[in-house]
This record gives sequence, structure tokens and C-alpha cells, in this order.
Amino acid sequence: MKQNIYDNPDFFKEYMDLRESGITYNDFIEQPAIKSAISTLKDKTILDLGCGAGKFAKYCVDNGASKVIGVDISRNMIEQAKKENENEKIEYICTPIEDLELQNQKFDLIISSLAVHYIKNYTNLIQKVRNLLSKNGEFIFSTEHPIVTARIEMDNWLRDSNGEKLHWALDNYQEEGKREHNWYVDGVIVYHRTISTLINTLLDNGFILEKVIEPQSIPSGLEQMPKLVNEKRRPSFIVIKSRGAS
Ligand SMILES: C[S@@+](CC[C@H](N)C(=O)[O-])C[C@H]1O[C@@H](n2cnc3c(N)ncnc32)[C@H](O)[C@@H]1O
Repeated sequence: MKQNIYDNPDFFKEYMDLRESGITYNDFIEQPAIKSAISTLKDKTILDLGCGAGKFAKYCVDNGASKVIGVDISRNMIEQAKKENENEKIEYICTPIEDLELQNQKFDLIISSLAVHYIKNYTNLIQKVRNLLSKNGEFIFSTEHPIVTARIEMDNWLRDSNGEKLHWALDNYQEEGKREHNWYVDGVIVYHRTISTLINTLLDNGFILEKVIEPQSIPSGLEQMPKLVNEKRRPSFIVIKSRGAS
């Protein structure tokens, strides 16, 4: 059973308020990193897995992409995308990535921004991506960093009696699988995988690894969100860029 937490009204409202503030980990850490990994968008066909409200799909066409398909499990997200980021070159499909079937279509770039940690079967995902990627096409994804998803409690900062952060607790690292935590609502499910699994599954399926980024905040983020200095202590995200075999 796939979780569709973004269609929970309380979660969705909180999440959208956060994203609309423009003061987020996405804006200052993850999006700059994932965008920096893209070779070019010009004339490219792009598949965005877990496209959310379509901001990235719109960014792609604004920067020259010839066609973007955005896929998301959440009806709320797809409705928002169709409202806010509609464009004749973008098609939005509301379906779980796991069930996506696009016959006879190949993409120059497949991107997935912070959705992979919601997918239970990573091997199946990578095989699906391989089948949908053009020869030499790029696959770039970001996911919560394994040192964030590892600890079963997922309450990772150990603090002193004044509440000051002492250390980041890393535990249960080799125990891959489901983690359940509170993020706006209880019971948000993500899947923990080690760095070696994230990378070796790509290699085992014929991908060529091109870049791994453990991003820190861009300078303006540190000004607007001073707590992002903690990214120097531990990264929140990992971005992995690979290429399909030619
Ligand atoms: C953190 S949001 C990121 C949205 C977008 N990529 C962005 O960067 O703005 C994660 C997205 O993944 C979607 N998602 C989660 N599980 C999914 C699944 N199994 N299939 C398709 N989309 C999924 C959610 O509905 C949500 O829109």
C-alpha cells in the first residue's frame, strides 16, 4: 500500500504554506543542488517523478525543455500544478510512480526531487527509470540523506539540558526499510536506504555514476534561515546524478 500523505488535508495545508513562504530547505539547499547537476534543459524531454505542484516542470520549460511529463500520486498536488504551472509543453499525470506506464516513450532527463524516499521498492524504481531513459540520458534525483533517515526514532539531535544541539545521532544505519515519523502529522512513512544501496543499485542496472552532492545552503539561505548552518554538521539531502549506458 503506497502512502499518499500529501492528500491529507492538514499535511497538505502545512506543506504548501511552507513551500509558498519561499524560506525552505528546498529553496536554499536542495533545489540549487539538483539544478546545478543538470547539464542542459534546452530541447530536452523530461520526466519529473513526484513533481508536486509543478514548479520544477515550469522551470524546465522556461529554460528551453521541449516537453515535460510530471507525475505525482497526490491529486492535491496535480490540481495545484495544473492551476499554477500549466503550459502547453507540460503534461501532468496523477498516478503513483510505481504504477506509471508510458508505452514507447523515452526521456533525455529523468528527475526526481525529494520523492525517492517515499518509494518502497528502490530496485523496481531504478529499473523503471532505466526503461524510460534515452540512451545516454541523465537521471538525477535528490532524497533525504541516509544519515537523516537511519535512526529508527528519527529524532536525531541530541541536546544538552539547555536544549542546545550537541550531536547528530546516527544509529540503525544498516537496517534498511520503513521509518515512520511526525512531520506535521503522525505516521509519515519514508524508506531508509544506505548510500551503498542508493549507488550500487544504479551501477547494477547499467547506470554510470556521474556526481554525488551532499549540499549545503547557498549564502542567501544562511542569511534568511540561520539554522541552515547546521548543514555543515550533517547534510539533510543527497543528490545523485547518473547516466544511462549508451
Ligand atoms: C517533498 S514533495 C516534492 C515535490 C516536488 N518534487 C518539489 O520538489 O517541489 C514529494 C512529492 O512526492 C510525491 N510522492 C510521494 N510518493 C509518491 C509516489 N509513490 N508516487 C508519486 N508521487 C509520490 C508527493 O505527493 C509529493 O508531491
